[in-house]
Amino acid sequence: MHLLVTGGCGFIGTNFILHLLETDPAVRITNLDKLTYAGNRGNLAHLEGDGSRYAFVHGDIADAALVEQLLAEHAIDAVVHFAAESHVDRSITDSAPFIHTNVAGTHTLLEAARKAGVQRFVHVSTDEVYGSLGPHDPAFTEETPLAPNSPYSASKAASDMLARAYFHTYGLPVIITRCSNNYGPYQFPEKLIPLTYLRATRGEPVPVYGDGSNVRDWIYVLDHCRGVEAALRRGEPGKVYNFGGDAERTNLETVHTILDAVGAPRSLVRFVTDRPGHDRRYAMNSSRAKKELGWRPETDFATGIAQTIRWYQTHAAWLDDVQSGAYRQFMEKWYAKERGV
Ligand code: NAD
Ligand code: DAU
Repeated sequence: MHLLVTGGCGFIGTNFILHLLETDPAVRITNLDKLTYAGNRGNLAHLEGDGSRYAFVHGDIADAALVEQLLAEHAIDAVVHFAAESHVDRSITDSAPFIHTNVAGTHTLLEAARKAGVQRFVHVSTDEVYGSLGPHDPAFTEETPLAPNSPYSASKAASDMLARAYFHTYGLPVIITRCSNNYGPYQFPEKLIPLTYLRATRGEPVPVYGDGSNVRDWIYVLDHCRGVEAALRRGEPGKVYNFGGDAERTNLETVHTILDAVGAPRSLVRFVTDRPGHDRRYAMNSSRAKKELGWRPETDFATGIAQTIRWYQTHAAWLDDVQSGAYRQFMEKWYAKERGV
């Protein structure tokens, strides 16, 4: 199976590619990534020598000529589409890149996949398209109406609707996955969990929005990747599959867990002005994925957070490079090393 993975240099894409290449020797992957601030080519650079199983292509999913050429020349069987602008706060500051990549980029990819006749198109989406829950509301199901509240989630909902339309109108075998908040190795430290780890280990204040009572349902990234893989292999075209971690926590509880784990004082917490339009609570009902895909989350929050903290502790150089911006010059350094300079 030859996959085109988009956004494979980001957090989840990196974990997905590592997982698939490790567990299935028959898989080949072409990774198309624009290398925005969130893309780190160094994550997978050790695979680049092995041209038969993994190839990196630097480019934009909204570049129709490039995407069409890739699908035609590489005889791609399936597309797994992770590429996106993914950070809610950035979408509040400037939503234009979100419309470009998440809406126009997804449209370009769907159109190229339709023309090339790919056998499967997995569109990776988010629980945020369903909007926000009250404290006692039942968890989101795949039938919950979409009600996005941020420019980010609105752009993802738009891309979901395009994906759905390409199945209904053209018969493109699209499967949509929606997942709750991921955490784990390679997550960019703008997101709550790695940001808290970073600040806590430096003894710096940790910003908690509002009163810290907003609730997120945390899932270990490998569990999400296994879900996307299950949808790719066994999902029914035209269907949506929810994945959640069964691990609802208030943000303050999550921050306290990390502070305690690294031995930092809880007094580092700073309650700051809330995010505009901040969704109160997300919770996912994953029964369809459990029943139809045989999937379930395997890593509980305590285990996953311990593994994640250990990963950041043993990959301090990765975090330093991301902080300093050195990761953007990674390839120059890598080529220099290869040449023995
Ligand atoms: P990320 O921000 O870490 O990575 C995004 C990747 O996409 C980067 O490598 C970036 O360079 C690339 N990219 C951005 N614009 C591009 C473009 N125009 N063309 C090609 N590549 C481009 O994101 P992530 O957290 O890994 O999320 C991956 C996907 O999963 C997204 O679609 C996101 O909406 C979805 N998702 C994320 C979470 C989460 O908790 N992080 C949860 C559910 C769903
Ligand atoms: O639910 C899935 C979504 O999870 C994905 O679709 C998004 O791509 C991903 O970014 C994530 O969105 P969130 O907005 O939930 O993640 P973030 O890590 O930014 O924030 C988690 C919660 O913590 C949220 O309620 C806001 C709060 N927060 C965040 C930051 C960065 C803080 O209190 N302080 C912070 O500094």
